[in-house]
Amino acid sequence: MPHANTIAVILAAGKGTRMHSDKPKVLQTLLGENMLFYVAAAASAVAAKVLTVVGHGQELVQKAHPELADGFVLQTEQKGTGHALQVAWDKVRESGATHCLVLNGDAPLVTPEDLEELMGTAREGADIAFLTSVLPDAGAFGRVLRGADGNVTGIVEAKDFDPAVHGEDTGEVNTGLFCLSVAAVEASLFSLTSANRAGEYYITDLVGLGVEAGLKVHALKREGALDLFGSNSPLELAQAESRLRAGIVESLLASGVLLHQHETIVVGPRARVAPGAELTGPCRILGATTIARGAKVEAFCQITDCTIDADCEVREFCHLESAHVASGAVAGPYARLRPGADVGENARVGNFVEMKKASLGPGAKASHLTYLGDASVGAGANIGAGTITCNYDGTHKHKTSIGAGAFIGSNTALVAPVTVGAGALVGAGSVITKDVPEKTLGIGRARQANLPLRGKKP
Ligand code: UD1
Ligand code: CA
Repeated sequence: MPHANTIAVILAAGKGTRMHSDKPKVLQTLLGENMLFYVAAAASAVAAKVLTVVGHGQELVQKAHPELADGFVLQTEQKGTGHALQVAWDKVRESGATHCLVLNGDAPLVTPEDLEELMGTAREGADIAFLTSVLPDAGAFGRVLRGADGNVTGIVEAKDFDPAVHGEDTGEVNTGLFCLSVAAVEASLFSLTSANRAGEYYITDLVGLGVEAGLKVHALKREGALDLFGSNSPLELAQAESRLRAGIVESLLASGVLLHQHETIVVGPRARVAPGAELTGPCRILGATTIARGAKVEAFCQITDCTIDADCEVREFCHLESAHVASGAVAGPYARLRPGADVGENARVGNFVEMKKASLGPGAKASHLTYLGDASVGAGANIGAGTITCNYDGTHKHKTSIGAGAFIGSNTALVAPVTVGAGALVGAGSVITKDVPEKTLGIGRARQANLPLRGKKP
């Protein structure tokens, strides 16, 4: 349950230079979802309101995340993490929240539990609570400084860290997660300076300033909490993605999903796979896909935003997007279902068949080499190999309607708009430009002529 008195601020304005990509860093993806998706999901699980500070590529970020629309704050110039929080501060105060969580937009593996733990420390009276970890290689992370009594005295960014001045490097570093008392930290927040090597206003300086101002500062130390750190480079992003993937696969196995070659199975965080479903890797199940009990997905499939009902089979090499496969149906191998494809109960869509905004009724079959676009096919109809719905006249799309039990002979072109009635039969090789009434034979092809061979002797 989100806490009513808590607001979260996600810092997501930075460019992400180390990613070597034109895309804003928070729009880099893991398992098909943007980094910002993960951070926002964790934040909104615990905080009643979420603000997102955007800057670099802000139009793209805002467009990609309409669900965060009422909480965007623009940081026109990226002058550092402390400056980013200053820019959001008016809205933090307006919200009336007593506590403010701060999250880095590039740390996608943060969990609501991590945040709850930090908020617990704040509830016990800390004005500034933050999470730290001890890493074997502290790398570019901010170093946590402690006094002789073990109490925190500050954070020094890696660039500015000097053992001669700051003492021995203990390897304890800042994860970038803070929980702040809104009333207590305000004065310190607006006393930040940019007197450091990067010339930026660092949120991390809040810790030293807070200690000087007599605030209660508490650093919660977590051993080896790799998941909490930012993904700044392609390598760090890949490492985070592979930890996330392994975690999801492990929980699917624990819940009772059958997985073969599970090391090569990718399931996105929004996908739901029911216990008793069976997947064979390599395959990718992404977006808001649901796969029901008893359904089988074979190797080399990519399924995005689809509904796969009980006991159906998606055979090897299928590509499915925003499609529905009803129970008992079989798709593939090599089927391509585009948005709006709807394969009815016990229907069959076979190899090299493409469907777009098209439905196959219960028990209908399109087994080979077919394009069904803007079409409806009735129950039990049979679509022969090489059938094409010619749905586009160069300007507009038109519909093809095929009635229940109809039989479309191979290599038929159905020039839409056109209707083939229930129980009708279309001769192979036809170009159908006019409706075919129910229970009639439609045939539209050049008549074969067998002519004698002239000038050639057998
Ligand atoms: C930051 C911390 C560091 C910590 C590390 C953990 C600071 C100064 N340093 O370093 O102590 O160990 O995270 O991963 O906070 N951002 C803005 N506006 C800006 C600058 C940055 O919104 O003006 C955003 C970025 O988009 C990013 C986040 O703040 O999502 C953190 O910035 P980044 O540059 O990645 O900080 P680090 O160097 O990783
Ligand atoms: Ca970072």
